[in-house]
Amino acid sequence: MRLQLHILLATLASCSILSGTLAYKPVVILHGILSGPESMTFLVREIEKLHPGTVVYNCDKFSGWYSLENAWRQVDQVRDYLNEVGKLHPEGIIVLGYSQGGLLARAAIQSLPNHNVKTFISLSSPQAGQYGTSFLHLIFPDLAAKTAFELFYSRVGQHTSVGGYWNDPHEQDLYMKYSEFLPLINNEKVTSNSTSFKMGMVRLDKLVMIGGPNDDVITPWQSSHFSYYDENLDVIPFYQRKFFTDDSIGIRTLQEADKLIIVVKPHVHHLAWHTRQDVIHEVIMPYLD
Ligand SMILES: *[C@@H]1O[C@H](CO)[C@@H](O)[C@H](O)[C@H]1NC(C)=O
Repeated sequence: MRLQLHILLATLASCSILSGTLAYKPVVILHGILSGPESMTFLVREIEKLHPGTVVYNCDKFSGWYSLENAWRQVDQVRDYLNEVGKLHPEGIIVLGYSQGGLLARAAIQSLPNHNVKTFISLSSPQAGQYGTSFLHLIFPDLAAKTAFELFYSRVGQHTSVGGYWNDPHEQDLYMKYSEFLPLINNEKVTSNSTSFKMGMVRLDKLVMIGGPNDDVITPWQSSHFSYYDENLDVIPFYQRKFFTDDSIGIRTLQEADKLIIVVKPHVHHLAWHTRQDVIHEVIMPYLD
């Protein structure tokens, strides 16, 4: 009798894994800058192969040149999208954002104080800002990091997504004055939305931050973990930065509740996080259940 029950339970368990519907939560994927959903199809296929039955939403908003549009304009639409997908799956969803997409997704999640995102995966995203221009040379061939603030910290510069998270360690006054995006979602500038930005963050069951020292695009690469340069270009670990010690957006709350996962993986270039099979298997799949 006992053995039969055991077999029955085992059968039920394997059925639910095979059918997928009970076992795996839906995954929403957001692509990076100057690309679109097609850049994420290898990752989608891997998820579908390793976790059959998973419903994957590969968001097609703001692809190609549109990915340079103002950050808030993009976040507003990503927020509505996550809200709609979330309503279709009351059991909860997983969101994975790659590069700029991870920063926009984070802001969208923070802008939804009642979301049902269980796990958010930030895949090599400039969460603490960016101070490097290699990825911009396609659009601005002569742009140098040292002088880029003149472009980005202006009304015109803020019309671009990058202007919203350009974080020049030598020009922090201008950053605070002009940047309309990163200082807001990091609650460095307090607004009427700051409380709900924190609520949206602490509502997560799991925050997974993935990045590594050979990324070559995210600068400093530790920005993928909320760490950032000080004015001497020394990287201050996230847990020593004011936004963390003050718990201004709830990252400390998440860490104290064991909900913050920091993944450091060397020898992965920025363009490989979502296109290399071994990397996907090692750093993404474990968090998709
Ligand atoms: C707060 O959020 C709403 C909705 O996204 C937005 O319309 C408004 O401008 C924001 N307020 C501030 C002060 O940022």
